[in-house]
Amino acid sequence: MDDLLKKTQILVTGASGKTGKAVMDAFLKKGYLVKAFVHSTKQTSKINERICIFSGDLTSSLDLSQAMEGVTAIYHICPNMHPAEVAIGRHMIRLARLNGIHHFVYHSVLHPQIREMPHHWKKMRVEGLLFKSGLNFTILQPTAYMQNLLAYKPAIMSDGVYAVPYNGQTRISMVDVRDVAEVAAGIILNEDHYGSTYELADDDICSQLELAGKFSAACRRVIAFREIPRDEWRHTMVQSSMPAYSIDALLRMFEYYERFGFIGNGIVLKALLGHNGRSLDAFIEEFFSE
Ligand SMILES: NC(=O)c1ccc[n+]([C@@H]2O[C@H](COP(=O)([O-])OP(=O)(O)OC[C@H]3O[C@@H](n4cnc5c(N)ncnc54)[C@H](OP(=O)(O)O)[C@@H]3O)[C@@H](O)[C@H]2O)c1
Repeated sequence: MDDLLKKTQILVTGASGKTGKAVMDAFLKKGYLVKAFVHSTKQTSKINERICIFSGDLTSSLDLSQAMEGVTAIYHICPNMHPAEVAIGRHMIRLARLNGIHHFVYHSVLHPQIREMPHHWKKMRVEGLLFKSGLNFTILQPTAYMQNLLAYKPAIMSDGVYAVPYNGQTRISMVDVRDVAEVAAGIILNEDHYGSTYELADDDICSQLELAGKFSAACRRVIAFREIPRDEWRHTMVQSSMPAYSIDALLRMFEYYERFGFIGNGIVLKALLGHNGRSLDAFIEEFFSE
């Protein structure tokens, strides 16, 4: 392993979430030295020679400042639907400058420019702060993960129904988070990427009705599509104590998806991976076949 790998400690925020776990896996597979910023564990601990766990709150400047000690690169994953994403980003960028961080990679989202989706728009504002920061940065903009489909698996398997709060014609690009993580591992210690912004999506763009068809093929029985009325969805989420900001942001996202779709392109992902990404068909076969 070369000197850079031995010396560079990478801070990964949101490390125990859906994205963070995939990114941690990909970084550790490469042999990187990683500090995982997590929320729930109670203290800082060294797991082994290559992994250190830092427990803290991303909304605390003190915790962020302590987490950055000894770090030279940052992979910043803000918690999903966090109302303070811009403030967290601002503090991280300020402290990254103070700490002389070599490379700041921001995990954004496809089409952050869409104001109608508040969680996207917040990411746009963090991207703007990065442009003005003077830091070496790279921005990844993944579309919706294929892994999100796993949340529907229990209903698909038990009731034979794929139900979402937008209509069956809604077309969405997806990407496997493992491919996003592989890209992240390829760029974090590579200065050739400084200043880049990459949209990450798979080539296959399918409607919700087509998705139900793919589930049917994998399960070898009919999986019916059902459109959940958004009022019904809202009621269920309020009952489940989902935070109000998340409910509102998601409802706006569903409305946007239904009106305009959410469409990316697979060219950049393929170029960065150096091979094809995992296809939606392969993902469904892997996780839904019976
Ligand atoms: N899901 C997608 O399809 C998709 C697509 C593109 C981009 N993204 C972006 O990817 C990012 C991560 O999404 P995700 O779905 O991987 O998130 P996630 O699974 O919800 O993980 C978020 C993590 O952040 C931790 N966390 C929450 N509040 C915290 C705080 N105040 N301080 C420190 N840690 C805190 C959570 O820990 P606890 O649970 O212990 O609080 C959790 O481990 C989001 O910014 C999202 O917009 C997601």
